Amino acid sequence: MDQENNKMTVQWYPGHMTKARRAMETDIRLVDLVIEILDARLPVSSRNPDIDSISRQKDRLIILNKKDLADEAVTALWLDYFSRSGIQAVPMDARSRSSLRSVKDAIAKAEADRMERNRKRGILNRPVRALVAGIPNVGKSTFINMLAGKSAAKTGNKPGVTRGNQWISLRSNLELLDTPGLLWPKFEDPAVGVRLALVGSLSDTVIDPEELALRGIRFMTASYPGRLAEKYGLAEQAEAPAVLTDIAVSRGCLLKGSQPDTARAARLFLDDLRRGALGRLSLEKPPVPDAEVGR
Ligand code: G4P
Repeated sequence: MDQENNKMTVQWYPGHMTKARRAMETDIRLVDLVIEILDARLPVSSRNPDIDSISRQKDRLIILNKKDLADEAVTALWLDYFSRSGIQAVPMDARSRSSLRSVKDAIAKAEADRMERNRKRGILNRPVRALVAGIPNVGKSTFINMLAGKSAAKTGNKPGVTRGNQWISLRSNLELLDTPGLLWPKFEDPAVGVRLALVGSLSDTVIDPEELALRGIRFMTASYPGRLAEKYGLAEQAEAPAVLTDIAVSRGCLLKGSQPDTARAARLFLDDLRRGALGRLSLEKPPVPDAEVGR
């Protein structure tokens, strides 16, 4: 497994990462505010640690996107965690207009000090410039399009489609760089890779889908007991391979001779997990504050 995991990091990491990082470093010089989008289901794993050094001296706002897919109670813990760490964070469903209001308010709050400083210095008409940053597939383009109210940025997982500094004017005092800042996920811990793959943020060619599905089943059984039984109408068993076989049978994924097709069942399970068909779920919880340890 260790060897496999080493292969996993080597396969996808270096080239893309360096290029994306360089582009971000250039873009970031142009802005005052960095809007960092994380996946609400895994705010740690979907965060590229380079963002801290890249966006030093800039105002920051964290958005926990795909809140509709995340466990609400856990998202509340994350918001509390970020607030205690002095970082402004806001949950979002980038596809829903109703989420935008609170995000716009949070942007206004993040800008407020700068606007006030500018005002005191007699600078009245300079808009605050912002860019949206995050790993592939986290919802950057969807968010930009929604915020801009038109198809201003290209959606889909196609890094680096437009370069050149196009600005989207959002209000008289805010401009958004139309190209999302792309950062690749960065990890040494293979468990982080598994979590990213489970939500579909790492290509399915990196980890074998059947192996990944077994990891996902173990996670579901431990963290959300009863969900698999409910969804697939099966007795949730302790052993993940048996559960996968049961899913194959209950969903009619069968090979010739009625053998369960576990490869197909794995893809079906992963698809269900990713699109929320297994219910809302979060793969990471914030650390427990020191004061609560041992209570
Ligand atoms: P990116 O620019 O960061 O790479 O991500 P992008 O906006 O292209 O979004 C990636 C996928 O995530 C899209 O789905 C998009 O619809 C979906 N998405 C973005 N924000 C949210 C959210 O808050 N909740 C949910 N449930 N999904 C979200 P797709 O399957 O690639 O395309 P499609 O479904 O839009 O056709």
